[in-house]
Amino acid sequence: MLEQKILNIKNTALGEINKALSKEQVFSLRVKYLGRKSEFNNILKNIKSLSPDEKKKIGHLANTAKKEIENEFEKAEKLIKAKSFDHKAEKIDVTIPGKKMKQGHLHPITIVQNEIEDIFSGMGFEIADGPEVETEWYNFDALNIPADHPARDAWDTFWIKPETKNKERLALRPHTSPVQIRYMQKNKPPFRIIVPGKCFRREATDAAHEHTFYQFEALVVGEDINVGHFKYIGEQFFSKFFKKDIKVRLRPSYFPFTEPSFEFDISCTVCGGKKCKSCKGNGWLEIGGCGMVNQKVFEAAGYPKGKYQGFAWGFGLERLAMMKWKIDDIRLFESGDLRFINQF
Ligand code: FA5
Repeated sequence: MLEQKILNIKNTALGEINKALSKEQVFSLRVKYLGRKSEFNNILKNIKSLSPDEKKKIGHLANTAKKEIENEFEKAEKLIKAKSFDHKAEKIDVTIPGKKMKQGHLHPITIVQNEIEDIFSGMGFEIADGPEVETEWYNFDALNIPADHPARDAWDTFWIKPETKNKERLALRPHTSPVQIRYMQKNKPPFRIIVPGKCFRREATDAAHEHTFYQFEALVVGEDINVGHFKYIGEQFFSKFFKKDIKVRLRPSYFPFTEPSFEFDISCTVCGGKKCKSCKGNGWLEIGGCGMVNQKVFEAAGYPKGKYQGFAWGFGLERLAMMKWKIDDIRLFESGDLRFINQF
């Protein structure tokens, strides 16, 4: 009798749970069939008063029925949850105005670097690259600047403590010139390259000097390269860069890795040489150092002495950006000041 009762409760419970359509219905069925005051709970409570044999039989049957009912509740809950996903509420209203995304843009130095690379690629130059952490030999010795040479002082260098005493000293490169040697060791003339890249100097910063700045090196090597090629390429580049006719002037200078060496000036980008405030009444603007590659540099790179001729320059990238956009303080570039950066 009790057995039949349990089976009846179970069957009606399973049938009703199966038809439940909402969370609320499932809840009230749970109270009805498994709640404290349910008929089923009453049977479970009274099992203890049965004879040992009956207790075993009915107990087992009741527990199995309870498990089955519980499983059915679980299934029903899952099904209702899955069905209750409201696709209508998910509809996208395409007429609602979108949130404006802030779009990033290139840093002015990157803009200038890209422009330089485009102009030189157009003239058949290759873009070369080298390490920013560089050995003492590439930074100085190979460029004809031995340890005791006073010219080393011109490059206030950030040295890196060597791990062991007998390891070669490393430094944050103070100029892009070491890439000349690295490129020549791997390539045979004729070639023409530019090397745009980051440099570092232990400088007291001011409106014209940064501890971290960019240079772009040029190196053109062949058997008959002369100063004429050099002036012509300079004029072509600066005229394209400033989008107006630019004249070039070379003044004698000194760099250990070039012979002869020059300071490279261009006609004022504002007055064209007529003398104005921008060029401080000079008519010319100083751009950077350059010269014909010293034969000792070719030798250090493994080329035979006297076979090749070439020219090289190392110009500051910020200086060009400053002239282009009339920026009066180099420190703005690395300042992270969005009022400055967002103007580009
Ligand atoms: C050199 O660094 C040489 N390696 C250039 C060179 C290359 C000469 C090849 C001959 C042949 P110099 O120290 O003058 O030279 O630096 C070149 C340019 O880098 C400067 O004219 C300037 O535009 C830029 N520059 C140098 N130091 C700084 C600095 N602290 N902050 C910003 N720009 C700098």
